[in-house]
Amino acid sequence: MPNFETVEVQTDLLICGGGMAACGAAVEAAHWARKHGLKVTVVDKAAMDRSGAVAMGLSAINQYVGLKDGQNTMQDYVAYVRNDLMGITREDLVASIARHVDGTVHLFEKWGLPIWQDGEGGYVHEGRWQLMINGESYKVLVAETAKNALGIDNIYERVFITEPIMDGDKIAGAVGFSIRENKFYVFRAKAVMVAMGGAVHVFKPRSVGEGLGRSWYPPFNSGASTYFSLRAGCEMTCQEVRFIPVRFKDAYGPVGAWFLLFKSRATNALGENYMQTNAEELQKWGEYGKVKPVPANLRNWLMMLDVMDGKGPIYMQTAEAIKNISEATEDPKERKKKLKELEAEAWEDFLDMTISQALLWASTNTAPEEKPSEIAACEPYFIGSHSGASGAWVSGPADLQNDASKNDYFWGYANMATVPGIFCVGDASGASSHKFSSGSFTEGRIAAQAALKYVIEHPEEPQVDMAAVKAMEEKILAPLDLFEQHKNASTDPDINPNYLRPKMAMFRLQKIMDEYAGGVSTNFTTSKENLEKALELLAMLREDLEHLGAEDLHELLRCWENVHRTWQAEVHVRTMLYREETRWPGYYFRSDCPTMNEEEWKVFVNSRWNPGTGEWEMSKKPIHRIFE
Ligand code: FAD
Ligand code: ADX
Repeated sequence: MPNFETVEVQTDLLICGGGMAACGAAVEAAHWARKHGLKVTVVDKAAMDRSGAVAMGLSAINQYVGLKDGQNTMQDYVAYVRNDLMGITREDLVASIARHVDGTVHLFEKWGLPIWQDGEGGYVHEGRWQLMINGESYKVLVAETAKNALGIDNIYERVFITEPIMDGDKIAGAVGFSIRENKFYVFRAKAVMVAMGGAVHVFKPRSVGEGLGRSWYPPFNSGASTYFSLRAGCEMTCQEVRFIPVRFKDAYGPVGAWFLLFKSRATNALGENYMQTNAEELQKWGEYGKVKPVPANLRNWLMMLDVMDGKGPIYMQTAEAIKNISEATEDPKERKKKLKELEAEAWEDFLDMTISQALLWASTNTAPEEKPSEIAACEPYFIGSHSGASGAWVSGPADLQNDASKNDYFWGYANMATVPGIFCVGDASGASSHKFSSGSFTEGRIAAQAALKYVIEHPEEPQVDMAAVKAMEEKILAPLDLFEQHKNASTDPDINPNYLRPKMAMFRLQKIMDEYAGGVSTNFTTSKENLEKALELLAMLREDLEHLGAEDLHELLRCWENVHRTWQAEVHVRTMLYREETRWPGYYFRSDCPTMNEEEWKVFVNSRWNPGTGEWEMSKKPIHRIFE
């Protein structure tokens, strides 16, 4: 075993993750911590300036309610989210973010984020809730503000949070290791914020071979939030609600600006608009088939029906959209100028946040004003902050409950999970979709205030069993030892009977999920029997994960990422199995229960791994309507 230094850090609030929600939490917590003489610490597995989903930048702020301008109300936003998630949403959580999010956006602007202006004192909207930005440096400036607020001594970068430390049923901190130095970290904390994003590469991606690993969701996020929360004993929710975005094919470029700003159509290869030709299908999905905008999963579904009918490829009609907008300008000189402007905007949309899509356009001689581009449904991701909903089951705020909801949705501190002292935000908190970058930051702020209140009201130092921590350290570092011990047993270190390399473990997980749990290869279709088979194979995979081998620290990171992903996979499969209906066609389809059942399944499905027994507990939780 290589020599590792054990570094102990004592803090009041530990923020795990350095993304949008973590930065929001850091900025807010720094303010309150100064007032109360408390210490706040952030740990990110990467470098905060360019970590998480916003690493490459973004081209829009997707949640801005416009309360002050009277554009919309908080209730409007709640209705939008409720409809988009086919009725399954925590209205208290959505409203709590919606009423504060505009203030966050104004802060971003103050810190230097260029938001497009309409020339009349307003913002340029991409859609009803979305604002256009020049967002290449979005994450840099948000991270910089968070770092300045906390002070560099309180920030640990390139440290991978691996496991929670418990004090009985309460959280007591977390352990992790450096990805650059032989250092094992023990963070003791009175409260822990889980802000480590969602998960990618649980399912086999469409990108294989030379494009291996390319995906829409960012590679940083590998299920750590779900793993951490589950292992601490937290109740989880909506773990069946994966997100399948439709994106420009192969480089995963965003579609929002095309659909909303450029008012583009997507068609099948015959030039038919599937949203019109397949509109009849919407009747099958109750009240959610009638709402506007059509829920994201149903938009996917109408497209998939054409793909399954052999009417692909599917195209975003970029040339037609650009032509339509430019032709609205009558003066030929002005029209030419408008055309150039639109071309620039089209490229910038990708250059701001998905540079590889611009590269793909360039390398395939694609001029968007001349020819359409293919779009396709991506492999499934876990992202509670977008149009998915998976995450921990957390308390809502006190003042947004009604008589019915307060017993089920409120237990003292906003965003606290069911384990005392754990707070979950962004992709890590469930049933509050459509918070995006601005809402995740806002949720971090809300939760940070609550977490510090918790720390003040629970000032006792957590008891940490150092023998148990030592055992964790040995287990976490074991793959390094195993590799070192056996690497010469075969001539090719990849093929060795004594250990499994993390990449191979990942391929195995992805194959199981793809084939049995509704991945790309099966057109996102699964069934009871398939899900049971997935569980059988996942159990064997978990046994083999005890024998992971790591050549270096980077591979050690990869080992634990795959352990985290496997837990995300298992809770997903168990929850899809439990919900005996199809509610989100276009995300997944249960061939054995192909219809929606409002009577029995208009409920949250919650899940918990019991740390005492190692058993899984599944339950239904009621949906309370709080707003009209
Ligand atoms: P993230 O911002 O992803 O942060 C997660 C953090 O956790 C990262 O810092 C990561 O390094 C860290 N982490 C992960 N595992 C560990 C570990 N084990 N130990 C320590 N740290 C860890 N929103 C918009 O408003 N507008 C858009 O245009 C838009 N476009 C998007 C495009 C893409 C491709 C994606 C994926 C998302 C987009 N979103 C957009 C949504 C937005 O980016 C997310 O909602 C938001 O970033 C979620 O915040 P988060 O803090 O939960 O996760
Ligand atoms: S992003 O996360 O990569 O920016 P995307 O570009 O698809 O996502 O969407 C941005 C925003 O536009 C999201 O709020 C999404 O829900 C919304 N959106 C995308 N396409 C449509 C559509 N066809 N109808 C309504 N809303 C849409």
